Amino acid sequence: MGWNSWNAFGISPRLIEPIIEQTADLMVSLGLRDAGYRYLNIDDGWQGERDSDSRITVDAQRFPSGFKHLADYAHAKGLLFGLYSDAGTHTCGGKEGSLGYEDIDARTYADWGVDYLKYDNCFNRFLPIRPRFEKMRDALNATGRPIFYSLCEWGVDDVWEWGASVGNSWRVTDDLMDHWDSLAHNADDASQLHQHAGPGSWNDWDMLQVGNGGLRWIEEQAHFAMWCLSKSPLVIGTDLRKISPDALALLKNEELIAVHQDPLGKAARLAWHKGPYRVFSAPLADGSVAVVIWNRHTHFNAYFYDDGSQCNYTTATFPIPKKLMNHTEYFKPPPDHHPHTRRRRRLQDERGDTSVPPDDTNGWDPPCKD
Ligand code: GLA
Repeated sequence: MGWNSWNAFGISPRLIEPIIEQTADLMVSLGLRDAGYRYLNIDDGWQGERDSDSRITVDAQRFPSGFKHLADYAHAKGLLFGLYSDAGTHTCGGKEGSLGYEDIDARTYADWGVDYLKYDNCFNRFLPIRPRFEKMRDALNATGRPIFYSLCEWGVDDVWEWGASVGNSWRVTDDLMDHWDSLAHNADDASQLHQHAGPGSWNDWDMLQVGNGGLRWIEEQAHFAMWCLSKSPLVIGTDLRKISPDALALLKNEELIAVHQDPLGKAARLAWHKGPYRVFSAPLADGSVAVVIWNRHTHFNAYFYDDGSQCNYTTATFPIPKKLMNHTEYFKPPPDHHPHTRRRRRLQDERGDTSVPPDDTNGWDPPCKD
């Protein structure tokens, strides 16, 4: 349980030292630390260049006091400090990656006092995934410092089959966007993997969107309940300086957090479904059963493949939210024969909607099996 900068600040110039310090202060004063949220994690965007000894540096404009300072700041408040890097030449945001620098980066993180590493999979030169993630696991272990290792490979290569021997959690879907279609779609996929989660090794359903404005209140409640019952890491992704009392109360809901923290660590499985309605259930250590009644109903879906290197696709509502439009370079239309394309075409035709990228699949050879 913790907080991460990505969903609220991305790589924008607002990702700066005073924000992280204020977030640490707010995690304490808003009672989030005491509710269990202990990790304060900086996502992509913090990296500077490598120095003459190949050590990664921190962007001094954004974080002038450096990360030893921020880690100390977090620790002094009873929090833990986390960072992000990537098992490729660059991070997804185009900053320095760790491929080939695993040992020196792990040592640098340990020197700074880092307690958590989120490790991404962009710009990977199409090298096999597992050895790249194992290399960083070994490098982190060699530091002797306990560092939670969060694999961020977006659910590729059946990570749930091998993730437990490599990290403490692994992403099971592509990025969770701040709207219900993305959430419901990801939950459909992620909930099928319940049997792979257990104490010490968790399915990561991605960071929370509670408080970010794209979900209705009832959807936020469903979102949080489902993440708790599935035992996904609970990583807050909103700007705590602006959080509403409702969102804060939801994130601190004691009953739901107790289900999330249940020592049995069993993730919810689908117990019943009919149409868009589902019941998920998870046994608890005291013999009782926690249940989520889930109305998965969505208004309208469009499906887009991502950059073509993986078999993920993501969903968008119409009109495509502005936030998502910034990322359209990642979204290529799926090939003609794919059922999602057919569905999208049909819906597009029905609605005469022209707000999506053209159906131009020329030259794109999808690597995915249907
Ligand atoms: C990927 C990850 C996100 C975030 C960004 C940073 O998209 O899945 O969670 O870390 O990279 O660039």
